[in-house]
Parts: sequence; structure tokens; C-alpha cells
Amino acid sequence: MSKFAVMGHGVVGSGTVELWYKNEKLIKEKQGIDLELGYILDIREFPGLPYSDRFTKDINDILNDDDVKVVAEVMGGVNPAYDFVKKCLERGKSVCTSNKELVAKKGAELIACAKAHNCSFLFEASTGGAIPIIRPMHTCLAGNEITAIEGILNGTTNYILTQMIENGTDMQTALTEAQQKGYAERDPSADIEGHDACRKICILSSLAFGRHVYPEWVHTEGITGIAPEDTKTAAANGYAVKLIGSVKRCDNGKILPMVAPRFVPLTSQLGHVTDVFNAIMVHGNGFDEVMFYGKGAGKLPTASAVLGDIIDCAKASGTITACTWDDSPDDSFIEKYTDVPVSMYIRCEDVSEKEIAELFGSVKFLASDNNTVAFITPEKKESEIDALCASLGDKVKNRIRVL
Ligand code: HSE
Repeated sequence: MSKFAVMGHGVVGSGTVELWYKNEKLIKEKQGIDLELGYILDIREFPGLPYSDRFTKDINDILNDDDVKVVAEVMGGVNPAYDFVKKCLERGKSVCTSNKELVAKKGAELIACAKAHNCSFLFEASTGGAIPIIRPMHTCLAGNEITAIEGILNGTTNYILTQMIENGTDMQTALTEAQQKGYAERDPSADIEGHDACRKICILSSLAFGRHVYPEWVHTEGITGIAPEDTKTAAANGYAVKLIGSVKRCDNGKILPMVAPRFVPLTSQLGHVTDVFNAIMVHGNGFDEVMFYGKGAGKLPTASAVLGDIIDCAKASGTITACTWDDSPDDSFIEKYTDVPVSMYIRCEDVSEKEIAELFGSVKFLASDNNTVAFITPEKKESEIDALCASLGDKVKNRIRVL
């Protein structure tokens, strides 16, 4: 018999414990493993639970118990998670984590540490919640060159945008609902400012291209600049506004990872992904494109992915190499986003359609009234669009890239 431990009893940690006890018998029968929940690490008190006797406040209880072979890290944040995870790996205990910040900032180092100690560092739950994406990319799609990924990677912002568009809810009210439902980060600015999606596109980019992509190398914008008039204009013209994490291989061989709101045509499957759902479209030179879809946040959906990793580790002997990449010494392989052609939705005030057409060329007008003109530019280098917008000064009220 071996044991596993869960570090953190917040939303995902309590979900992992709940799902384990709910399905324990089934898991043991189907997977043929002899596994017990040994410890739950948390500094808080949780009296009155059927498994209250499993709680400890001391990481050494986990580290010093040789029967603990697998540890789930579901605390979030880099400290003390990084320290705890490293100590577990150094003792040969495999670690499974839902902590995208940890993986995005320390992934290459922790993967190497796991290999050096003949154990595994798995993080299926770090990206896409319940969606199997990390392992399939490294196994089922391994025979391809990945050329691009575009995804709705943050459940909270997708929930907020859906509420804004479908029910006219204001952003703050929708965010409060997302917090109540357990979707948002402890500091929800990580969701709405795009940092959570940035961490996830770092993980997917690192997996797809084999070199660690650090968050500070990724141009990141959130959803706070999106106004109701933008979402209304989008809907009236066959688009949805979505926060998209993307990465693509450019013609010069560099890669361009980015997080930003996008006008997504409703002819694209991503345009129809609503509520807390995530969807990740992967493009490759053999399979063309595949889409992964499911609940991207929430207690049990995320716990489902953590538990899958725990079971995998419990069944494995040695290192599972299904999730791996090398460290990167610098960002010389990252393309500058302003050098890349893009098509942009622009909303202006106090300017005529004629002036816009003279400036931007053959634009597609989406809405015009006495005061406002909204349009989509033809593809141009983003730096050129920036220069044209600068010539309009504060007449430009908003700009959103088109997918
Ligand atoms: N806050 C995250 C989200 C949780 O909303 O997607 C799941 O990673």
C-alpha cells in the first residue's frame, strides 16, 4: 500500500479529497492500485470532516513518511509551493499540481528535478481545468510539428464576457458571481488582467515548442478595457469578444505567444464557447487542427485532472516523461508582436468614414452613427496600425485584435 498527500485544502484541494472519497472504490478496482490518502497539509483548522484526522500543519510529516509516493500541490502561488514541491521531488516523491503560476515560472527546473530523482512532475490540471490537453499534446499529437495554438484559457473571464453579452451584466457583478462559483483566482486581477491565461499559454508554448517560455516574455492584455458597445457591435456583426491565449510559429522560425481580447468570428468554434468552458484549438502539420473542450475552472472539474495525475503517478514506476521541455537561456526565439501582421477592430469618435477609409484603406465598417465609427482594418503590421491610430489621437476609443 502506498499513500498520497494533498498540500492545500482550498477550492481545488478540497475538491480533490472529495472526488477521491467519492470514487475511491471504483478507482482502486478499475486501476488496480492500492492507494490511501495519507495527509492533507493546511495551516487552517477543518474540524468535523470525516477525514479530519488526515490534516497536518507540518510538511515534514509528508516528507518523512516513506509510504507517501505521490503529493498533490494545490496551494497556488510560488511560495511556499516551490519550496515544498522541490523538497518532495528531491525525496523521490512524484508531484502533481494545478498551480499554473508555479509551472509557468519554475516548470523547466522542476521537470529536471523530477527526472534527476526518478519521479514525476505532472501538471495536467494547470491548463484547461478538466480538459486533457497536456498529455495528449505530448503523446497523441507527438508525430506532428505543432504550428499554432489558440485557446480560451480562462474560465472566469469567459464567464464574465458571456454574462456581459447574454444578460447585460456589468463586469464587476459578473466577477463577483465567478468568485462565488469558485472559478476566480484568490486575487482575481490575475484573471481579468490576463495573467492567468498568460501562465497557461506559457505552459502550452513550452510543451509545443520544447523550450521554456517565461511569463514576462508574453505580451499580455486583459478584459478590463472591453466596453459594452464593443461586445454589442461584435454580436451585431457575427463576432464574439473572447480573451484568447495564442502562440504561433512565425515564418522566421521564432514563436509569438500572446494573450489579448479578440474579435472571434462566430464561424469559428471558439466563438461559441461560453460560460466557464475553455476550448483549445491546436494546429499541426499532420492532423491539421483538433479542438479540446471542457470546463476550465471550478472545484471538481479541476480536481478531476489532479486525481488523474495522482493515479498515473501511483501506477508508474520511475519518471513519467509525458510532460517535458528544456529551459531557455534567453527570449531570442520570441517574435516581437508589433512586427507581425494583424487585423484590428477599432472604435473611433468624431471622425468620418471617409477619413477612416483614406487612412486605413479597405476597411470593413461595422457601425456608424453621428458620433461613432467602428470598423475592422485590413491586415497590416501592428506597428503600422499603431502609427495610424496615433495620428487620430484620442478620437480612438478602443482597439481589439481580430482572430
Ligand atoms: N481562475 C482560473 C480560471 C482557474 O478562471 O480559469 C482555473 O485555472
